[in-house]
Amino acid sequence: MRNKQVSEIKSLKDERDAVILAHSYQPPEIQDIADHVGDSLELSRIAAITESSVIVFCGVKFMAETAHILSPQKTVLLPEPEAGCPLADCICVPALKSMQELYPDALTVLYVNSPADVKAESYACCTSANALAVVESAPSDEIIFAPDRNLGTFVSRRSDKTFHIWNGACRSHAIADLQHMQTRMEEWPDAELLVHPETPPAAWDIAHAVLGTGGMIRYVGESSTKRFIIGTEEGMVYRLRTLYPDREFTGGGNIYCINMKKITLQKILDSLRNMEPIIELDPRIRKKANAAVARMTEVTE
Ligand code: 13P
Repeated sequence: MRNKQVSEIKSLKDERDAVILAHSYQPPEIQDIADHVGDSLELSRIAAITESSVIVFCGVKFMAETAHILSPQKTVLLPEPEAGCPLADCICVPALKSMQELYPDALTVLYVNSPADVKAESYACCTSANALAVVESAPSDEIIFAPDRNLGTFVSRRSDKTFHIWNGACRSHAIADLQHMQTRMEEWPDAELLVHPETPPAAWDIAHAVLGTGGMIRYVGESSTKRFIIGTEEGMVYRLRTLYPDREFTGGGNIYCINMKKITLQKILDSLRNMEPIIELDPRIRKKANAAVARMTEVTE
């Protein structure tokens, strides 16, 4: 069954001139058939320059919207339209605008995990990979950082700027089980614990490094350590095992994103067959959001 789905996806993909992009949190079978697996920043950059006419985005909605903002001339398909992001849903335009009225001198740096219309009201977007660099490059000493309070706190501790941090959180990372991380560290005393900055500060205190998913991949590549406990969404454990078969990885914190698991091989196949669901935005919002998203892709991490 799976082999048949995979070969049908491959031939339809060629027929449609499509590229499949998958976030590292996607299930193993989706990572295996993707043309590119990466973090939010890498996938946005690929979406911006791909020559394929169709992008099948295997991730969550804000990621597919970001691809559409950067590549409006392409058809962007999100095989499961209900793959949302509760963190993105923590913020809306009127609420951001009232914060901006409170701090009129501040520039808004918005985590890309956010709705497109809120991006349109922001100075720049960022991902966890380049959040500090984007903040430092913004021409103001005062920053509104939204919507993830943990990433905002993490960046604010490394910057001299004044921060006003939105009180939102990733539902999966914010409730990371620190006891589980500690148990894993007792089981593997020689291992390093890597955690995502969306986890709470108490997790950073016990971790060897706090990194986005792309940063974790680079960190492991440069390290001589053999075993790692991965404090982010569990799809990342499969990604790291694939890239570094000579190392050992296990999940820490029981971090699981149900939305990232909504895309299946059958849904990709149906999406390529029917050329839907297409991600589209109001062109005025898309154009306005493009300035903030383009700044994000330009700032190196
Ligand atoms: P990355 O920026 O590391 O890809 O993380 C994306 C994300 O959504 C974390 O929950």
